[in-house]
Amino acid sequence: MIFTVAIDGPAAAGKGTIGRAVAAHFGFAHLDTGLLYRAVGALVLKGAEPVAAARDLTPDALEQPGLRSPEVAQAASEVAVIPEVRAALLDFQRGFARREGGAVLDGRDIGTVICPAAEVKLFVTASAEARAGRRLAELLESGHATDMAAVLADVRARDARDESRAAAPLRPAEDAHVIDTSDLTVEAAIAAAVARVAAAGARS
Ligand code: CDP
Ligand code: CDP
Repeated sequence: MIFTVAIDGPAAAGKGTIGRAVAAHFGFAHLDTGLLYRAVGALVLKGAEPVAAARDLTPDALEQPGLRSPEVAQAASEVAVIPEVRAALLDFQRGFARREGGAVLDGRDIGTVICPAAEVKLFVTASAEARAGRRLAELLESGHATDMAAVLADVRARDARDESRAAAPLRPAEDAHVIDTSDLTVEAAIAAAVARVAAAGARS
């Protein structure tokens, strides 16, 4: 059975949380595509050339320490504007999406560019303040020294770059279902997503 769930949306909207839960519910595989761009960004911070780093990306690169840091997030969004970097990551993502047994991919351009024929498209969003508050809690929890003003500025800068770039900008696909998680608990957001996927014919 081939079944693709495409999840897009801005930073810290809850895409990964929803993606993991939907994948577990239906027994699908899950790919956080942001990790690919973070891995390239981290290699570039160590001196690599972005297009070569994306073409030669290895599974080991996805396990590098520090991929969740704000510095790597910024570097990821900078390499993500380069069309050749996006092109180098395309085949891997499309192959993953059409694997046997079902797949959930979350990112920025899954429903618009990577998988325009996905069986279900979700656009997960929330206010910038709600998203920055959640990301701040995660960063403090994992020992990063930061504050709300810095995290909000980071989130807004990345949103602006992701939405305004020429190559695969962040926007909802025309047939995407929007889930605004600003006032939803994690459980309610997951339930809304699972209901959409079940309505499209996925069996748990
Ligand atoms: O993948 P993305 O960057 O969109 O977000 P995430 O890493 O899944 O989650 C952001 C944070 O928001 C996590 O700490 C979640 O527990 C929290 N959260 C959520 O995902 N959904 C809600 N409705 C409320 C909180
Ligand atoms: O977890 P969070 O939502 O903060 O970020 P992420 O999903 O790990 O993505 C990091 C950066 O990679 C984003 O700000 C985008 O610039 C880029 N990205 C992208 O361009 N296309 C994707 N499909 C996924 C991420």
